[in-house]
Amino acid sequence: MRHDILIADRILPADTLPLEVAVVVPTLNEAANVEKLIAKLSVVLAGRGWEVVFVDDNSPDGTSELVRRIGRGSRHVRIVQRVGRRGLSSAVVEGILATAAPVVAVMDGDLQHSEDALPRLIDAVAGGEADVAVGTRYGAGGGIGDWDEGRARMSRLATRAGQIALGTDVSDPMSGFFAIRRDAFERALPHLSAIGFKILLDILASSPTPLKVAEIPYRFRTREAGESKIGARVIAEYAELIADKTIGRVVPVRLLKFLMVGGLGVFVHLAVLRAVLGAGSAFVTAQTVAVMTAIAFNFFLNNSFTYADRKLKGWRLVGGLASFYAISALGAVANIGIGTWMAGHDERWWVAGVAGVVVGAIWNFAMSSALTWRK
Ligand code: GDD
Ligand code: MN
Repeated sequence: MRHDILIADRILPADTLPLEVAVVVPTLNEAANVEKLIAKLSVVLAGRGWEVVFVDDNSPDGTSELVRRIGRGSRHVRIVQRVGRRGLSSAVVEGILATAAPVVAVMDGDLQHSEDALPRLIDAVAGGEADVAVGTRYGAGGGIGDWDEGRARMSRLATRAGQIALGTDVSDPMSGFFAIRRDAFERALPHLSAIGFKILLDILASSPTPLKVAEIPYRFRTREAGESKIGARVIAEYAELIADKTIGRVVPVRLLKFLMVGGLGVFVHLAVLRAVLGAGSAFVTAQTVAVMTAIAFNFFLNNSFTYADRKLKGWRLVGGLASFYAISALGAVANIGIGTWMAGHDERWWVAGVAGVVVGAIWNFAMSSALTWRK
């Protein structure tokens, strides 16, 4: 302790307050908003030891370079630039890990989160009364700005789904505007999914002990510059986060997706079988065509759905498909072998059948994730 103080005394310029709070701001093409945001932060955080850490996913509009330019003139402004990476949640996690501050606030870089609420968020956790303080759009004095009825309804629905799935009564668990004490964050850290957009929900659901939450209402502002990144992908990632935080505790979500794709493959198989038989082919020909088609179908769907994060492209698709055929062939052999062995040990035909399918499916999953879509 004493040692820390000595070091700090030597390296801190005399006019620098000890670092009390960091504001972590994930950005993707927010160059038009960065300067205004920093100016607003320096007003509401005046008198505190603060810094802002932008975590920018290498925005083509030059957000990183702009922040760096401002950072040369002010120790309050820092940047983490990520290359070849995407994702709001993971950006926030890395921003929090990049700062020494004991309290971290998270806010969007597009000025939609009202900075007036920031001091209240920080103070609610700094003193220890709460572990997390959440900026809520739904309490008295809060608001969702000028969202149209469609988006408002969707947001309410998603909020409800999150509350039910995670058994939380926080009014706005989807909020991207909150403050948290470092110790509370670190307890949740090893259990985070860090999938998609909803880092607060992730933290609340991942914490091994329930977090004490304070709610601070604020009015969500209209975005004036730049564009929202909400889209089909954000919605899919939200569903995935919820799945990971509920059923994912028992079965990995990736395996579930793989099994869903396999289930669809059965329908593809039957449809092709019927069509080829209908065209007058012998059963053995039709069955072969159906198997080959279903495997290819499973490969492409797994490639863009189950393994979207390791998606094979270009020539690597060819090698991937070949390895998937080989693995599936061995999986079929295992399926038949186990099924036949089981049939000799159990009266019920379907038990043997299911045993074969389960072993074959797990084989296919394990091998294709290790070989076809290896990291
Ligand atoms: N680094 C990084 N990487 N930043 C990202 C990414 C990404 O992949 N995607 C979005 N961002 C940044 C944006 O630049 C912005 O600063 C912030 O994250 C929020 O993105 P928006 O696209 O503006 O989201 P929104 O306004 O539709 O929704 C926001 O507000 C909701 C209500 O609080 C988000 O914070 C939601 O999570 C939140 O529910
Ligand atoms: Mn926004």
